[in-house]
Amino acid sequence: MLLSVENVTRIFGRNVAVDNASFRVAKPAMIGVIGRSGAGKSTLLRMINRLTDATEGAIRFEGCDVLKLTGAQKRAWQSDCAMIFQQFNLVPRLDVVSNVLHGTLNRQSAAATFFNLYPRADIYRAIDILERLGIAEQAAKRAEALSGGQQQRVAIARALMQDPRIILADEPIASLDPMNAQVVMQALRRIHEEDGRMVIANLHTLDTARRYCDRVIGMRDGRIVFDGTPGQLTTGVARDIYGADASFSEAATSTAIETLDTPHQVEEPA
Ligand SMILES: Nc1ncnc2c1ncn2[C@@H]1O[C@H](COP(=O)(O)OP(=O)(O)O)[C@@H](O)[C@H]1O
Ligand SMILES: [Mg+2]
Repeated sequence: MLLSVENVTRIFGRNVAVDNASFRVAKPAMIGVIGRSGAGKSTLLRMINRLTDATEGAIRFEGCDVLKLTGAQKRAWQSDCAMIFQQFNLVPRLDVVSNVLHGTLNRQSAAATFFNLYPRADIYRAIDILERLGIAEQAAKRAEALSGGQQQRVAIARALMQDPRIILADEPIASLDPMNAQVVMQALRRIHEEDGRMVIANLHTLDTARRYCDRVIGMRDGRIVFDGTPGQLTTGVARDIYGADASFSEAATSTAIETLDTPHQVEEPA
């Protein structure tokens, strides 16, 4: 088994953020995690990457319980599963290439980092990755000068610098307009297909999960209440995940409801 999340629980005070969650991934997949706000999606991702400790359970990657790692081994794991965030988390005033090179920080000496000295090979690699994501011409600009969609691609490039086995994306398109959202999702899809990396993305809209992911995990009140293919994600199931109230139509986009039973094909990148 590549990744297995086994009976993982996270309690904050009296609040059970993730409640006995389990799922297994046999080979690299593109997985979407959906559910209303507060369902536990971010906490689940953050436990995988060890940004948040689990209260109970095990998370095994190739058999090794990553929740037990400490020190250098824990940092190596964190480098193996890169995180991408809704707000990009770039250094706004720093140029794009330097932001991407930050993805190599865990193997730089403190002095080299302080003086912004990066090996030439890393700089070329950073530019290659930017090229692949279609934003090489932005390399010398400050991150803050880029559009949201471009900034998120810089964040993906920074993640790729780590050469991660898994990319964990927490609402990667929630701040983007529909066109940029599509570009970013297509980039993640390509990285999954071409590099064979696993992608686990928390997504706030159903149709995005259905369109780009091979597998969808639905969370409600900390529990995994659905785990299946986009085709299995029917209107009834979606109502169960989101609750049959206003938040369902809010969480699903306007197009999602009509097309719910006819999954989209993933488009070829332009
Ligand atoms: N650091 C924290 N301290 C206390 N409660 C938290 C913390 N992080 C998350 N929670 C709570 O855990 C629950 C799940 O949150 P979260 O994982 O952020 O959900 P989602 O990402 O699906 O919106 C929520 O009730 C939230 O308030
Ligand atoms: Mg969240």
